[in-house]
Amino acid sequence: MLVLGIETSCDETGLALFDNEKGLLGHVLHSQVDLHEAYGGVVPELASRDHIRLILPLLESLFKKTGVKKEDVDAIAYTQGPGLSGALLVGSSLAEALAFSLQIPTIPIHHLEGHLLAPLLEGDPPTFPFLALLVSGGHTQIIHVKKIGQYEIIGDTLDDAAGEAFDKTAQLLGLGYPGGLALSLLAEKGKPRFDLPRPLMHSKDLNFSFSGLKTAVLHLIRAQEYLTDEIKADIAFAFQEAITDVLTKKCLIGLDQTHLKNLIVSGGVGANKQLRQKLKTELSKKNYEVFFPRLEFCTDNGAMIAFTGAMRLKTSLKSDLRFAVKPRWQLA
Ligand code: KG4
Ligand code: ZN
Repeated sequence: MLVLGIETSCDETGLALFDNEKGLLGHVLHSQVDLHEAYGGVVPELASRDHIRLILPLLESLFKKTGVKKEDVDAIAYTQGPGLSGALLVGSSLAEALAFSLQIPTIPIHHLEGHLLAPLLEGDPPTFPFLALLVSGGHTQIIHVKKIGQYEIIGDTLDDAAGEAFDKTAQLLGLGYPGGLALSLLAEKGKPRFDLPRPLMHSKDLNFSFSGLKTAVLHLIRAQEYLTDEIKADIAFAFQEAITDVLTKKCLIGLDQTHLKNLIVSGGVGANKQLRQKLKTELSKKNYEVFFPRLEFCTDNGAMIAFTGAMRLKTSLKSDLRFAVKPRWQLA
C-alpha cells in the first residue's frame, strides 16, 4: 500500500509518500515562515494563497524525487483539521480531486494525530500503549495513547500552549516570529541569574498554565535598567529552564499515574534541545524511556500525515467524510 500524505493546515506545505512495506519513500516541505514574519504571526489569507501557489510544483517534485508515478498511489491522506479553513481546503481539494481522478480512497487525518504518531516513523519505535507529550504552537497535552484512534487526553493547558509561550517570550525579547528556536539558541549563551515561576509544577494533576510565566518575563524585562544582550540571554535561559522543568515534571507524574513505561514527544517544541535532554535524564532515573521524531518531523510535515494514513488504512479506520474541512476538531 502506497499512501500520499498532504499537510496544509497552517503555514507549511508538506507532501510525502509512505509505503507500508518500504517505509517513507520521500517527503517535500515548504515553510512560509519568511512570508508571515513581518506580521508577527500567520496571516490566514496569505497562507492559503501560498499553499495554492506551491502545492502542485511540490507534488511534481515529490514524484520526481521518489520515481513514483501518480498511478502507483493507492490512497491519499490529508489533514482535514484542525487548522485554518482556507489552508485546509487547499490540501483537501487536491486530495479529493486527485483521488477521484485515480479512483482511489482518501483518508482525512486529524493534524494532532499526525504529530502524535510522528515518532513512530523512526527506527525501534515503542509499542502501544504509551504516553505522549504533544507540545506545539497551539497545544500542550498529555495523552494516553491506547492504540491507533484511541486517545485519552489526561493533561491540557489552561491558557497558553508551550509553543505560544516560547513565541510570546521570544517576541518580548525582540527575537521575531516564530521565536521558539531563536529563544533556545539565545538561552544556550545564558547563565543562571534569574529565577522564574514554574506554574502548577507541584500540583498533582497534569494540567499546564504558561501565561503567568510569560507575564513574569515581561515584569523582569521592565525591571531592567538596560536590556543588554547578556541580560536577554540570561532571561531566555531562565524561561527555558522554567518551562522545560514543568513539562518534564508533568510527564513524570503522568507516567507514574498511568503505569506506562514509554513516553513519546512531538510537536514543534519537541525539537527543543534542553527539553529533550531533561526528559532523557529524568526519565532514565526511573527506568522510563522517551522517544522523539527526527527534528524535521517535530514541526508540521507531510510524512506524519502519510504515515497516519497508512496506519489508518491498515486498521481500516477510514472516514467517509468528503471535502469538508474541520477547522476545530477535538482529538479524543
Ligand atoms: O507543531 P508546530 O509546527 O505547529 C503547530 O502545529 O502548532 O510547532 C510550532 C511551534 C512554534 O511555537 C515554535 O516556536 C516552536 O514550535 N518551536 C520551538 C522550537 N522549534 C520550534 N520551541 C522551542 N524550541 C525549539 N527548538
Ligand atoms: Zn502542527
